[in-house]
Amino acid sequence: MSVREIPNIAPPEGKLGVLLPGLGAVSTTFIAGVEAVKKGKAEPVGSLTQIGHVRLGKRTEDRNPLIKELVPLTDISNLVYGGWDIYEDNCYDAALNAGVLQCDLLDQVKAEMQAVTPMPAVFEHRFVTRIDGPNIKKGANKMELAEALIDDIRNFKQRTGAARAVMVWCGSTEIFQKPGDVHQSPAAFERGLAENDPEIAPSQIYAYAALKSGVPFANGAPNLTVDTPALIALSKAEGVPIAGKDYKTGQTFIKTLLAPGLKSRLLGLDGWFSTNILGNRDGEVLDDPDSFKTKEESKLSALDVIFQPKLYPELYGDFDHKVRINYYPPRGDNKEGWDNIDIFGWLGYKMQIKVNFLCRDSILAAPLVLDLALFLDLAQRAGMSGILEWLSFYFKSPMAAQGLYPEHDIFIQLMKLKNTLRWMKGEDLITHLGLEYYD
Ligand SMILES: NC(=O)c1ccc[n+]([C@@H]2O[C@H](COP(=O)([O-])OP(=O)(O)OC[C@H]3O[C@@H](n4cnc5c(N)ncnc54)[C@H](O)[C@@H]3O)[C@@H](O)[C@H]2O)c1
Repeated sequence: MSVREIPNIAPPEGKLGVLLPGLGAVSTTFIAGVEAVKKGKAEPVGSLTQIGHVRLGKRTEDRNPLIKELVPLTDISNLVYGGWDIYEDNCYDAALNAGVLQCDLLDQVKAEMQAVTPMPAVFEHRFVTRIDGPNIKKGANKMELAEALIDDIRNFKQRTGAARAVMVWCGSTEIFQKPGDVHQSPAAFERGLAENDPEIAPSQIYAYAALKSGVPFANGAPNLTVDTPALIALSKAEGVPIAGKDYKTGQTFIKTLLAPGLKSRLLGLDGWFSTNILGNRDGEVLDDPDSFKTKEESKLSALDVIFQPKLYPELYGDFDHKVRINYYPPRGDNKEGWDNIDIFGWLGYKMQIKVNFLCRDSILAAPLVLDLALFLDLAQRAGMSGILEWLSFYFKSPMAAQGLYPEHDIFIQLMKLKNTLRWMKGEDLITHLGLEYYD
């Protein structure tokens, strides 16, 4: 199908399996939250698919349905979960350990959380050096490990009765990697799996298994994972959507709110210094310089794209951009981020903005996991495959077609997402031209 034809969207019949490599803070906060919402114990704050509206037609028409009324999304009552982790804790114990949610809420969904137990993980210590665990698959080579994951997916669907599944990577951040020869084509990648190529990371094996199983894949971490020519080509060949990478939650979320505003007024930038303290397991993993490098690259990219220094060298040609993350255990999941922004205005007069965001990492990320799962499934039922750039709204480091710079401005990303939903239903796209109101 050409993506420009309005698609026929298959109805969301049956259960949808949400497969989560990594059952840590984000995954367990997501599952507990959805189960609490299902029981009427909490509201799905932050989720576009659950509480977001979309305007249709002219401003005078007063048509603002919920997104879930416009497009046929799977209802959350039909979600079932599966996952892998290197630790053996079930999701209830993992959530207690992550310390994000309070016990009284967790206890109300205890049975549902305890029912989700981790399948043995594909893991290689070299790629995530700060953690180690007992629940790990063994295989003669990486192809065998991929086949074991494909079996897991098949068995999960049989066990839960899921009609369809999506996979959302919630595992740790792997060390920094650039695509190598093995990542250049599906054939090279498959040869590499069989030959145990050291450049194939565990997250890539999960992504391969998902694509070969017809399961859409989103990457919530900054790892390379599906962002390689090999796996992008495979997603097209298998007719499966992919999206990534790195959830846009705390500091970068705020950055992509502020930066487009400063740019819109053509205020200049001398520097942007961002620092964080974070005490959860993610913080511990990012304490390794090689994992931090992956995160740093992801965090640094937004400003260059938003400010367009080549077009505005006098305003943005020479700004300092520094990002630091400090592992500080007492803070747990409640990250604190500070930004110092040095800007200048009319006649070069200097000003400063200070931002102190006391956020909760997994509380910000959980609704993104839900939205990504439901939108990936929608996209697949609409016949889409390859990179879903319209989901870049959710990511710090959005994947885009080769040769295309990614869009980082969150307001443009949201417009793109909503226009895609309008297009899927044959509604007029909204350009905000609006001259017709004055004819
Ligand atoms: N929370 C946020 O706001 C946010 C934002 C952007 C990105 N992320 C990314 O999301 C991911 C999850 O974050 P988190 O806070 O839940 O981290 P976490 O450390 O609590 O959970 C990650 C889990 O993944 C497991 N794991 C690691 N490698 C694995 C493998 N190969 N297979 C299966 N399991 C594996 C770990 O054992 C751990 O339990 C991290 O990569 C993080 O950088 C989080």
